[in-house]
Amino acid sequence: MSTSSSSAAETKNKIEFLKKFLVFFILILICLVIFYLNHNKNDQYTLKSLGLNGSVSLGDSLFKTNCVGCHGIKARGLVGPDLHSVTKRLSDKEIIKQVTTGLTPPMPSFEIDPQNMSNLLSYLHTLE
Ligand code: HEC
Repeated sequence: MSTSSSSAAETKNKIEFLKKFLVFFILILICLVIFYLNHNKNDQYTLKSLGLNGSVSLGDSLFKTNCVGCHGIKARGLVGPDLHSVTKRLSDKEIIKQVTTGLTPPMPSFEIDPQNMSNLLSYLHTLE
């Protein structure tokens, strides 16, 4: 009698454990899916930005409205670094990442569409 009830308790424990494990497993799976979708979205954004033809003058005005506060009116650096020859130090992909994620506080992240990102890159390429 006592053995059968203890084995019933054991089975119940096992089922509880399996339930917890399943919940844990599903949570991990959801995290992976979100990570993958996000990553994919970022990739498409980058590819799109790199594939467009940017306008230097539009990029210039975008820079004047968003970036001069920290990088200076001539991009010679203020709170943020001098951005001259930044395109030689960093690849376009790295610059896109810097601007859209604000990798390094206090630089904020910017949400700009691919065309504007392309304009901005064209402008940054004119800074020698
Ligand atoms: C609130 C201030 C701030 C604003 C606004 C800002 N930045 Fe920055 N930015 C920084 C700081 C600070 C760094 C340096 C972070 C570090 O120490 O690596 C930086 C770094 C960078 C870098 C990397 C430079 C390098 O040599 O590695 C790029 C590129 C850049 N910013 C572009 C931009 C652009 C383009 C804009 C406008 C869309 C912008 N930033 C707006 C503060 C700012």
